[in-house]
Amino acid sequence: MRRAVCPGSFDPPTFGHLDIVRRSARLFDEVIVAVGTNVSKNRLFDAEERIAMMRRACADLDNVTVEGFAGLVTTFCAERDVTAIVKGLRAASDFDYELQMAQMNSSLTGVETVFIPTSPERGFVSSSLVKEVAGFGGDVSAFVPDFVHAELRSRLA
Ligand code: PNS
Repeated sequence: MRRAVCPGSFDPPTFGHLDIVRRSARLFDEVIVAVGTNVSKNRLFDAEERIAMMRRACADLDNVTVEGFAGLVTTFCAERDVTAIVKGLRAASDFDYELQMAQMNSSLTGVETVFIPTSPERGFVSSSLVKEVAGFGGDVSAFVPDFVHAELRSRLA
């Protein structure tokens, strides 16, 4: 049984995240989307809202489950016999920080990180930019599921 974890803040989930989760689900027997609940000032949606959005967005994927986690991602992985952490890489600018985290996580518990290149049409999509554009009234409907778009509009109204 090959079990992977896709960790992230998902504040909010974007088609970039969902692309990586879907492709992970084809590579591994089971995928757990791990929604980080560590306290941060910069969240637009609280942990329960982000978990609910990810559950809804992944509902059609039979081998994907969604859980919240606090603390270290390596602890979450060790408790669930996880083979690999999967991360999407959008551009070279993602690489330095992701490499550092992958090496730290590997040195903590030996868990491996697998990088999947983001699909080119999603390469510029991030939760931060989606929030910024939506916050100034821009149309982000191409970058997030319809129900997330509705949540964003109501949160930012
Ligand atoms: O979507 P994000 O904000 O890039 O996700 C970052 C996340 C949640 C994957 C990362 O911050 C994380 O793994 N946090 C858990 C705490 C932890 O394990 N920190 C040490 C990483 S080396």
